[in-house]
Amino acid sequence: MRPWIFAHRGASARHPENTLEAFRAAIRLGADGIELDVQLTSDGEVVVIHDPWLDRTTDGTGLVQNRTFAELRRLSAGSWFDPRFSKSKIPSLREVLALVMPTRMQVILELKNFFVPQPELEKRVVELLRIYEMEQRAIISSFNFNSLLHIKELAPAVRTGLLYIGHLHEPWDIARQYQTEQLHVPKEEITPSLIRQAHRHRLEVIGWTINSSQTILRMRKLGIDGIITNYPRRARKVLHPKLDSG
Ligand code: G3P
Ligand code: CA
Repeated sequence: MRPWIFAHRGASARHPENTLEAFRAAIRLGADGIELDVQLTSDGEVVVIHDPWLDRTTDGTGLVQNRTFAELRRLSAGSWFDPRFSKSKIPSLREVLALVMPTRMQVILELKNFFVPQPELEKRVVELLRIYEMEQRAIISSFNFNSLLHIKELAPAVRTGLLYIGHLHEPWDIARQYQTEQLHVPKEEITPSLIRQAHRHRLEVIGWTINSSQTILRMRKLGIDGIITNYPRRARKVLHPKLDSG
């Protein structure tokens, strides 16, 4: 049922972002999908973490890509959020895909390769999607449009989303150039005309990051295809009040 509800970095309003705890909560709360951020470690593991640096969301410091997976696993990825989550770790993409695989959820994987180059990230992500048989349920997004084109070369069946910030002139033309099926649009840019024109160009529109009840309802009225939100429970209550009432 549209709009799909994607839990942004998991259910990140009440759990530390991009941790298994946040993704388990998203499943429990009835989200249609999760959104997560991926990067490579120095020894080639795909890990789920937002910033290129460890400092904000872990008790470590420095660049993620300068550390091995074993080194990253010694860090807490939850104590910054609340001491209750001090045992939370940076997950590997393998762990998250194994968690989601038995559900029917979709996964938006944002490649964090805009500011810091991540050679071979596309190849490693596609390999993992194949191992976990998640190609049909995955959507790959990135601010790095060349990287999206590379995904299409490696795995034409995997959907991609043109992720942008600020104003993009005629984004459907750029989507065609980079062969994406979706536009991932910042909420300030979502208008009736943008959605109408995107649909006319056979593009789905996913809005980010949509948190207030009022905006969630407005998005549905506009006919958006999906919303990315830190509050999947709120979104579900607002969009499907009857589903949870019994
Ligand atoms: O997918 C949209 C959104 O996740 C992009 O911004 O900074 O939360 O990764 P950010
Ligand atoms: Ca993201």
